[in-house]
Amino acid sequence: MASSIRDTYLTRTSGSQKAHSKAIQVMPGGTSRQAAYWAPYPLTVERGEGANFWDIDGNKYLDFINNYTAMAHGHAYPPIVEAVARQLRKGTGYAAANIPQTALAERIIGRIKSVDQIRFTNSGTEAAALAFTIARIVTGRRKLLMARYGYHGSLLEFETGSFGREGPLTYLAGYNNLDDFKSVLEQHGPEIAAVFLEPVLGSGGVISAQDEFLHGVKAAAHKAGALFVLDEVLTFRFGVSGCQEKSGLDPDLTMFGKVIGGGFPVGAVGGHRDLLRIFEPTNMKVFHTGTFNANPITMVAGDVSVRDLDAARIEKMDKLCLQLKTGLSEAAKSIGLPLSMNHYGSCLNMYFSNSVPESSVVRTDTQIIDRFHVAAMNRGLFLAPRGMMALSTVMTESHIVEALQIAAAAMQDVAAELEL
Ligand SMILES: Cc1ncc(COP(=O)(O)O)c(C=O)c1O
Repeated sequence: MASSIRDTYLTRTSGSQKAHSKAIQVMPGGTSRQAAYWAPYPLTVERGEGANFWDIDGNKYLDFINNYTAMAHGHAYPPIVEAVARQLRKGTGYAAANIPQTALAERIIGRIKSVDQIRFTNSGTEAAALAFTIARIVTGRRKLLMARYGYHGSLLEFETGSFGREGPLTYLAGYNNLDDFKSVLEQHGPEIAAVFLEPVLGSGGVISAQDEFLHGVKAAAHKAGALFVLDEVLTFRFGVSGCQEKSGLDPDLTMFGKVIGGGFPVGAVGGHRDLLRIFEPTNMKVFHTGTFNANPITMVAGDVSVRDLDAARIEKMDKLCLQLKTGLSEAAKSIGLPLSMNHYGSCLNMYFSNSVPESSVVRTDTQIIDRFHVAAMNRGLFLAPRGMMALSTVMTESHIVEALQIAAAAMQDVAAELEL
């Protein structure tokens, strides 16, 4: 189908297109990361600084996804660059202990009451695998229960649920539907090792949970003899103690990732000392290791990242995000496009429809959002293909104003192309 939005993208990003045509020879789809792919091909990025990055054609973008929330302080945040540079000169990994791992563990534990001890991994996906392992060992059960359209990484047992399908080890229940969770636990409780839950569905479309739901699921999990695992991989950025303290929740295990690595690969599982005891090397029940676990580069970057994610900065991001949301609504209204949004803290998700769907996976506006995503890039605004936006602490009001101008113009482009 002819599309001037697409044609503009092809013309502006010929370097990215060339890079993609080489990449697809050696990687399926030219990528190792589905979430960083979109049609006709993703931008190839040259460098980032603060709230911006530049593609290899020299186009500048305002980055409003920040590596899916991980870059809480934007790109090349000077205190992280300095800490990493210092560590780089000392070496990047040794098969022995290092000081920065204890510093980051102490910093996280100092903020999260439910966490006595922690084990680091290299991704949130690995953190999910580790939490599931703990639950299986502790309960002697094999299966898990998670929310339909929840996201806990790309391990098969969890990934099926993200697309709404049960798997051989996976039961699903509706998010914010306590009765549904209770009913699965009543029916299948003796098989279920753990219930995994995000306090806010991130990948599913920035949908927040009611506190009664979170508490109810925890109680139902315990009644069924299953562990309650709270996935704060994304939501840690929403509060100095993630979401759990705000909700008065005390999960058995908490998963971490993204922000706690300061832009480097990371994941972690923390929880009550009694549960983590299975890893005690002198009385080992589970062999947990990994060449790059708690590597000093990630640990020093993460320590600065968590340190600087303080209450004042979180509040500033949240305020700016609200301003962004209001401005996007006004722009869509004046152009005559339907726009609904889910919003929590420093993240939002756009849907060009009159109401928000149950999840991004079952949206009805793909014609519009796909074009909007490309039209926004053509004008220098970068957001997730699924309409998610996440702010960083280095953003100011001027970034919001600029993003809103671009978004309004991109909406115009879409309305004109689709004759809406
Ligand atoms: C809530 C949640 N859990 C787990 C993960 C997986 O983390 P990673 O991409 O580091 O494997 C993500 C990533 O987006 C996430 O948002």
